[in-house]
Amino acid sequence: MMRRMNGFSRASDGHAVLGGVDLQNLVAAANFPLPAYIYDLDGIGEEAAALVAAAGDKHVVAYAIKANSAGSIVRRIAEQGAGADLVSGGELLVALGCGIPPSKIFMSGVAKSDDELDAAISHGIRAIQAESVEELSRVAARARALKKPARISLRINPSVEIDSHAHVATGHDDAKFGVAIADVARAWETVDGSDGALLGVGVSTHVGSMLEEPSPYLESSHKVCDVAAARVKAGHALEFVDFGGGFGIDYGDGPVSRPGEFATAAIGLLAEYGLDDLGVVFEPGRALVGPYGVLVANVIQSKVSGSRRWLMVDAGMNDLLRPALYEAKHRIEPLAAAPAAEAWRVVGPVCESADDFGSHAIGAQPPDRVAIRDVGAYGFAMASEYNGRALATEVFLSGGKVVRVSTTPGRDAWVRGRLEA
Ligand SMILES: Cc1ncc(COP(=O)(O)O)c(C=O)c1O
Repeated sequence: MMRRMNGFSRASDGHAVLGGVDLQNLVAAANFPLPAYIYDLDGIGEEAAALVAAAGDKHVVAYAIKANSAGSIVRRIAEQGAGADLVSGGELLVALGCGIPPSKIFMSGVAKSDDELDAAISHGIRAIQAESVEELSRVAARARALKKPARISLRINPSVEIDSHAHVATGHDDAKFGVAIADVARAWETVDGSDGALLGVGVSTHVGSMLEEPSPYLESSHKVCDVAAARVKAGHALEFVDFGGGFGIDYGDGPVSRPGEFATAAIGLLAEYGLDDLGVVFEPGRALVGPYGVLVANVIQSKVSGSRRWLMVDAGMNDLLRPALYEAKHRIEPLAAAPAAEAWRVVGPVCESADDFGSHAIGAQPPDRVAIRDVGAYGFAMASEYNGRALATEVFLSGGKVVRVSTTPGRDAWVRGRLEA
């Protein structure tokens, strides 16, 4: 049997294809509304399985659920043996509901509410990643109230600059995340002085996103190993080091290092520090899902004004925020034909100048529909109903066919909600 191609490709007639499904034919025949996020579950599953295999049994791939929290996706990733990195009580419920065992769940976030801490402690997740000395005291108080020790990992701020957009750099001195290296001793004192309310089980970090190759990742991983090795040397057992996520994907500018390359290089550090007994945790989000999502939108109209050619589509910044938030460029192509040289500036309907997806080689004539590529991560997850717009449809593909369509309550529900507010 011919192997079905995962991810995005083009059929011989030029139609856009995702996960072996002809998107033009699917959308023409289907009865779901556009704009629609369409996901290739098989591609996501294979990507997760490859990283779980590269990491090996002793280590945990904890999928960063924030990238895409759709149950069909989280379940598919969990089935490959992955765990979850999460940042809210809502994401905790998604992870548990998708069958991820608490022993593979890690909770990050600089401002976890008491309710969120209580849920994490009660469920006995593997670790609450503490992001400040002050937070440790709050976690200890919640653990005492619940009469159950809290397993914590110290998320350090490694003081490492990365070559990414400022909004996705999280490990430098001016970032709100993590315990500064200078405060680590104070943090451990808080753990050790907690009378058993806090169990220090790990050291973590997350240096930022969109890393194209492993060197900044390894620089911050070295800092984690320094802190972990000093802790072990002082006579305290640890279970794991967590090097975070941040593995980049190819948004059209050329190939980047694969997730397995980051994992193999980082695991290789343990021996240098005599930490071979520890497990390693990885927290990839984007790399597992980003390339396996396409946002299909109708072209509502075009406008030619002097030398400017605009294409107005029915997906906006409320559906896909990354271009407005991070100046991200997603490839936009006609759905029914391969892209041709003539460029159009593609914009959405939202009443903001930032609702602009940039110029793209589309072709001489405006197409009926476009495919916005590589939107599986931080696409629907960041969507809003701004401007009174309904959330997009989500369509899940597997085995070359649609296995699930998810529509949100839609515009009428939005209108009712606002009238009641
Ligand atoms: C703590 C933490 N871990 C993991 C991730 C996932 O990053 P990425 O999607 O770039 O792999 C993030 C993203 O913001 C994060 O904040």
